[in-house]
Amino acid sequence: MSEALYDLVIIGGGPGGYVAAIRAAQLGLKTACVEGRGALGGTCLNVGCMPSKALLNSSEKYVDAQNHFADHGIKTSVELDLETMLGRKDKVVDDLTKGVEFLLKKNKVDYIKGWGSIPKAGEVLVKGEEGEQTLMTKNILVATGSESTPLPGIETDEDQIVTSTGALSLKKVPENMVVIGAGVIGLELGSVWSRLGAKVTVVEFLDQILPGIDEETGKLAKRVLTKQGLKFKLGMKVTGAEKADGKVKLTMESVKKGKVEELEVDTVLVAIGRRAYTKGLGLEELGVAMERGVVQVDNSFKTSVDGIYAIGDCVPGPMLAHKAEEDGIACVETLAGQHGHVNYALVPGVIYTHPEIASVGKSEEALKEAGVAYNIGKFPFSANSRARCMGESDGQVKILSDATTDKVLGVHIIGPVAGELLSEAVAVMEFGGSAEDIARTCHSHPGLSEAVKEAAMAVDKRAIHM
Ligand code: FAD
Ligand code: NAI
Repeated sequence: MSEALYDLVIIGGGPGGYVAAIRAAQLGLKTACVEGRGALGGTCLNVGCMPSKALLNSSEKYVDAQNHFADHGIKTSVELDLETMLGRKDKVVDDLTKGVEFLLKKNKVDYIKGWGSIPKAGEVLVKGEEGEQTLMTKNILVATGSESTPLPGIETDEDQIVTSTGALSLKKVPENMVVIGAGVIGLELGSVWSRLGAKVTVVEFLDQILPGIDEETGKLAKRVLTKQGLKFKLGMKVTGAEKADGKVKLTMESVKKGKVEELEVDTVLVAIGRRAYTKGLGLEELGVAMERGVVQVDNSFKTSVDGIYAIGDCVPGPMLAHKAEEDGIACVETLAGQHGHVNYALVPGVIYTHPEIASVGKSEEALKEAGVAYNIGKFPFSANSRARCMGESDGQVKILSDATTDKVLGVHIIGPVAGELLSEAVAVMEFGGSAEDIARTCHSHPGLSEAVKEAAMAVDKRAIHM
């Protein structure tokens, strides 16, 4: 039995949990963070955001060296060393997770290694390699994240039929690969292996890729990714997978007509979404309200049981690292008597394909459905001088603003470093700003952000370079 009485014990050391732990310690709360996987950083640092972005970056460099250096007058002979590429990715992950461990130590957060459960409010039981201990605490924060949603009838083995975790460590480049699900993971990791030489087919249940995204932006994304070699089979559902002779035979049928097709491939990536992970915590036994495995919380992140809070991927909302971090900070600030707040209407989303796809606020379709009158301003990167210098002229910036007040309601960018460009729009929207505010702000030249300014000017039909 541990003697320490904590103000807060956090279960889960992902971006939700570790960020909450640091903020809680900054606010003077005696805090422990319990993590079972043997490294801090959660899904994001270990098997999510970071390894995927490391591989996206490496594979982009490979394509550049193969196809684009020559345009710059640089002659190279290019060869893939996958082992080194994967090793670099592992080192990035290792450095980052150790960095988080250092930050917890620096902030005097106790990092407790092991799997936590909650026998009752006020107690966290931790089972680790060195045995069991009970942590006594005033408050408990559940930040246990999410896991891949399985596809019934298709068993993953992280070798031939993989989730995103296996797809981050394939030992060789498959000759051909099927990705089930044209969502964020499907497009990012499909892009990685396609760039490295696999013939990638993405099979999607719906009639469009990236459901929920602004439709025009989604269509542009599909066009660009198709040009890069990805094949899409939309309106198709996979009904079975059979392994034989080192291959996987996939059976699929069209959603509307039921027409059956078969595909034989080396590797299958199942990427049909993620689901909250709360296994083994004992939440149901304690009477914590859950809906289909998702922990239900109020706007202070309180569950239905006093003293137990929850944040991040295991509660409702977008499953994004920055959303989990915002939840974590707002939750512990409220716990410390401050006024934590998250604006869920303005959580940006970025897909790190090439070019990137970045969105915040409402899509055109959502505005139409809500009956909101809006103006549109668009500006293509082909008319942006910096993008031309970089040879990155695919894509556009699209700004949607209220027809009466000009308040920015949605921004959708597909183009070079779209994710970085989007931050300006998020800040303007947080302040309730208008397209005119962006249009009248001086942007440095030559800059990709001038495309954002010109799109804002285009709302009032006065873009200069178009
Ligand atoms: P997690 O990061 O899942 O952390 C939860 C932690 O809790 C885990 O480490 C787990 O081991 C631990 N845990 C669970 N149960 C227990 C227990 N009982 N005891 C102790 N520890 C426990 N999001 C982005 O914003 N940008 C991206 O680019 C991005 N890329 C992604 C790429 C991939 C391939 C994947 C899979 C996800 C990606 N995400 C991305 C999503 C992002 O990883 C998650 O939204 C984020 O990690 C959620 O943070 P969290 O703290 O809620 O949970
Ligand atoms: P997703 O929800 O983005 O996409 C899943 C796709 O699979 C959808 O298009 C859906 O229609 C389709 N689908 C569902 N069932 C299907 C079936 N039986 N057959 C064919 N298609 C089917 O989920 P994904 O890509 O697995 O990502 C999970 C989460 O991880 C996302 O919520 C995302 O927020 C997060 N993530 C974020 C990243 C980022 O921010 N850059 C990167 C990777 C993941």
